[in-house]
Amino acid sequence: MKSIPNARPWFPKKMREEIIQDIDYVMSSGKLMLGKFSDLIEEQYSNITSTKYSVSVTSATAGLQIALKYINIAGGEVLVPAASFITDVSSIQMEGGIPVLVDINPDTLTFDLEDLNKKVTKRTRAIIWVHLTGYIGKEYQRIQSFAKDHGLFLIEDAAHAHGAKIDGNVAGSLGDVGIFSFYPTKVVTAGTGGILTTNDLALASFARDIRLFGTNQNTGEVFLQGSDWFLDEFRSSVGYRQTRYLFENLNRRREIAQIYLERLEGSVEFKCLDIAKANFPSWFQFPVFCHPEINADSLRRTLINKGVECKQIYPPIHKEQLFRSLSHEGLENSEQTLEQSICLPMYVDLTNLEVDIVVERLFEARDQQ
Ligand SMILES: Cc1ncc(COP(=O)(O)O)c(C=O)c1O
Repeated sequence: MKSIPNARPWFPKKMREEIIQDIDYVMSSGKLMLGKFSDLIEEQYSNITSTKYSVSVTSATAGLQIALKYINIAGGEVLVPAASFITDVSSIQMEGGIPVLVDINPDTLTFDLEDLNKKVTKRTRAIIWVHLTGYIGKEYQRIQSFAKDHGLFLIEDAAHAHGAKIDGNVAGSLGDVGIFSFYPTKVVTAGTGGILTTNDLALASFARDIRLFGTNQNTGEVFLQGSDWFLDEFRSSVGYRQTRYLFENLNRRREIAQIYLERLEGSVEFKCLDIAKANFPSWFQFPVFCHPEINADSLRRTLINKGVECKQIYPPIHKEQLFRSLSHEGLENSEQTLEQSICLPMYVDLTNLEVDIVVERLFEARDQQ
């Protein structure tokens, strides 16, 4: 029996044909970096997020490092959710900063505001705010105000959240800088890659200089310790075409999410994210949260054995070997939420019939617990 995958990149035939033409153009133009396609993809993200500047880079992780370098984070503390991706934390350490893990609100997957208040200190300089699974928590304005009131630089990790919106506000425009990922599983992929979005001209110029070995783009002088963090034209062209289809991509994800939500409505065992009218997640993932009495780990294994690929969102950061020495005081909601999470298959080519099969198998797996 062929399993239903958990995620799959989407390259419909028309897009593939366009990409082949673009790649041919890149090869014959002889310009493999910082050319037509890096300009185009940057323009796209400024348009999507209504921010003035976009800077394409090799990955979201590089973007996080660039943002942290920009504020010279070494020695400063950064508030980051325990329910986040490893490089949200390792990028802080790589730049000499001190990550401080904050708990999440299990209903909105964003910061627990009380814990955020508890963990801010005189040494705090920045916040990395993650729209986990592509969902923007309804507390977004309170997080923005918190950052403003404490004079903190707000880095929005929108790696999961291409095109996600709340009350008309788009992911990537809610902080001082937004960072997107084009990693293979993401809503938009270029193989790998990333992009920064910002209204801060100084940050955009810093990013442009540092992504090219720290070379001042006006004088040609090397004045910063940088790296080759620019996104080459091949990947920029793939990311550009993928992004041209973003709204089609999101529409299908939303249809699939709607079917899951209807099928799971009223379930005591499996709770879904609460979707307010003006909240439009990107549905990078479709997570359900198992009742605490369910052994989610065993249920995930049963579901996989039944031909449905699934996973927990992420392990809590402090359970990773690398981060076990970080303080993990008061992170119970992050632990419980992530450990009880199951990401069901979500990708554009998933059929309605397959969605029904997934839900049927999920209930069968529950009955076998
Ligand atoms: C929330 C989040 N942030 C950042 C990253 C890092 O992205 P990249 O692989 O583009 O460096 C990932 C995963 O890929 C992620 O899931």
